Amino acid sequence: MQSIRKLLPLAFVTLFIFSALGISALAQPQPQPETQPPIYLGTAWYPEQWPESRWDADLRLMQQAGIRFVRITEFAWSSIEPEEAVYKFDWVDHAIDDAAKHHIFVVLGTPTAAPPAWLTQKYPETLRIMEDGRRDEHGNREQFNWANPKYRELCRGIAEKMAKRYGHNPNVIGWQIDNEYAAESYGLDVQKQFQDWLKARYGTLDNLNERWTTAYWSETYSDWSQIPIEEKYGNPGLLLNWKRFVSDTYRSYQKNQLDVIRANSDRRQFITTNMMGWFDGYDHYTVSQDLDLASWDDYVGRGHLDPNRNGAANDLTRGFLRKNFWIMETQPGFVNWAPVNTVLDKGEVRAMAWHNVGHGADAVSYWQWRSDLNGQEELHGTLIGADGTPVPVYSEVAQIGKEFAKAGPALAGTSVHSQVAILHSYDSRWAINWQRHNQAFDPVTQIVSYYKPLREVAQSVDIVPPTTPLDGYKLVVAPGLEVISKAEAENLIAYVKNGGHLVLGQRTGMKNEDNGLWPEREPGPLTELLGGRVDQFYAIDDKPGDTVPVSGIWGNTTSKIWAEQLSTSAPDTKVLMTYGKSNGWLDGKPAVITRKVGKGQITYIGAWMDDATMLKAAKWMAETSGVTAEFGPVPTGVDVYPREGDGKKVFILVNFDKTPQTVTLPSMMRDVLNDKEIHTVSLNHYGVAVLQAK
Ligand code: GLA
Ligand code: GLA
Repeated sequence: MQSIRKLLPLAFVTLFIFSALGISALAQPQPQPETQPPIYLGTAWYPEQWPESRWDADLRLMQQAGIRFVRITEFAWSSIEPEEAVYKFDWVDHAIDDAAKHHIFVVLGTPTAAPPAWLTQKYPETLRIMEDGRRDEHGNREQFNWANPKYRELCRGIAEKMAKRYGHNPNVIGWQIDNEYAAESYGLDVQKQFQDWLKARYGTLDNLNERWTTAYWSETYSDWSQIPIEEKYGNPGLLLNWKRFVSDTYRSYQKNQLDVIRANSDRRQFITTNMMGWFDGYDHYTVSQDLDLASWDDYVGRGHLDPNRNGAANDLTRGFLRKNFWIMETQPGFVNWAPVNTVLDKGEVRAMAWHNVGHGADAVSYWQWRSDLNGQEELHGTLIGADGTPVPVYSEVAQIGKEFAKAGPALAGTSVHSQVAILHSYDSRWAINWQRHNQAFDPVTQIVSYYKPLREVAQSVDIVPPTTPLDGYKLVVAPGLEVISKAEAENLIAYVKNGGHLVLGQRTGMKNEDNGLWPEREPGPLTELLGGRVDQFYAIDDKPGDTVPVSGIWGNTTSKIWAEQLSTSAPDTKVLMTYGKSNGWLDGKPAVITRKVGKGQITYIGAWMDDATMLKAAKWMAETSGVTAEFGPVPTGVDVYPREGDGKKVFILVNFDKTPQTVTLPSMMRDVLNDKEIHTVSLNHYGVAVLQAK
């Protein structure tokens, strides 16, 4: 940083000479960037809301808390371009330079989630059409139509201006495009684009009609222009393809900006967008493929951190690009949008930060720095108050800042490596959500019911799409992979034939890529390999007496929500669990079956079982496939997160149990935060340890 500070006067002189000569100051040689920290602490900062005279005080407080980056400008379009083609970048220049003086790097957001009033007034066609057919208006955000060519032209314009100005700025480390993509538009213009998109995908209407079985309810199309937009009810093929169109359109919306940023910036500057964990408005695999970095906004909202559901969301995000990711936003204590905006306990914000790093986050950033004096989110949690002085959680965040700096060298170059993969697809989650059959059948809850015990046993799990190369995994589990294409099935079949263990959960392989039923019944194209199938599925009510007893190698339990009656067709397919007496249909029928195929194995689980039984199931899966926990046993409630790389093995431990826990380490390790060698560690509730193996 010294070098930048020293260069400032020189830069100023150069700027002066270049301007006098009418040469763009952008051509000047730039100083080398300061070394970046391996693990970043950050915050969302809105300097446009405050006088410049205040910025230094803010940045000093950030620096004192160990904050190493600010994300700015992601809603600042009206401050950057107050009138069409009139640009005010001075304040952005100053904010970046002032941050640099405090060793704080900058992530620039393109401001396209909040178009200015002049823009939508002049170009009303850029406003989206809402589900009720009305045009959205100015006053909130995300009022734009993501498919509108004029809006895209304007977005590209502002992104290009910013990239040309800051693409070589040494203190700018990356870009966030837009903010939390979510809004869709349902006007005739979008409908026409959707119809063209379908034409490109299906070629002929005959093909589309056949694959969607449109003879049903006289849905047959005789002209592409007849095809409607449906989001909730209707033909399953239509619904699924609308979501795919939405995803492709977000991808092209993003690429429109990404291309001009990339063309005008140093390759060291990453490009990301902030996603939303389990949010399923679009296919995140489609949208993330063009990015350099996946990031997400991790909010608890009401209540406390659920390390399983949240941990799985982290692993999901890590799976988008199959590498470390960033937490671009998280709550400093509480939010403003939950039914009850409860606060995280003292210590929980820190525990959550380390939980995130354990799952592969290389940055944790708090939204937001300071309370807005006005605006919808006045009451949201912050690090400093409206008066500009720290609120109570500031000191906890400052502790995280110190710890990130201290643990940085140990964590540099490390990432998460798992022996177990859970397969996840948006097609399947959407398909289940449109036809849950039992309202309690939440696809994310189903995934977590497998994830939780598998994580406990293996201490690390990847969540990846079914097209991923699977050879590196000892165990692959597909809970609820309801939609499965031929190509995906072939990937899974090859995995088993090459010696892998594939476990299928309830509803897997029910439908094809048009969201139509596979005629083989579940698990569709995997039925032959399994040597068995689902004869019938049953929704199970949540009433006393309606649950279904299940017993076998994982003990005695009951099936709730869902129970599938299985049968075997191959002589070597074995029954592991059997239903007891309930509705008559299931009595005595197989609930879990498995078959060895060469060196590989395939298992089908038809019953939705409780946590204790799923833990036994996970242990069985691990044993039969050679999965081992790297760290060894830890007390219940303690999460262990292994990260390795660069010749280092680091284990992060967090105790989510209310009672203090003592953990015996598998060997002597370095306690990174306390600089000592230890072989046991005691952790209070929310206690954290960062341990480096020797
Ligand atoms: C009604 C309709 C049928 C069918 C059944 C399904 O009776 O007339 O077409 O939709 O419901 O339960
Ligand atoms: C989202 C948005 C932020 C802010 C926070 C509040 O994550 O991206 O702009 O509104 O929610 O929790």
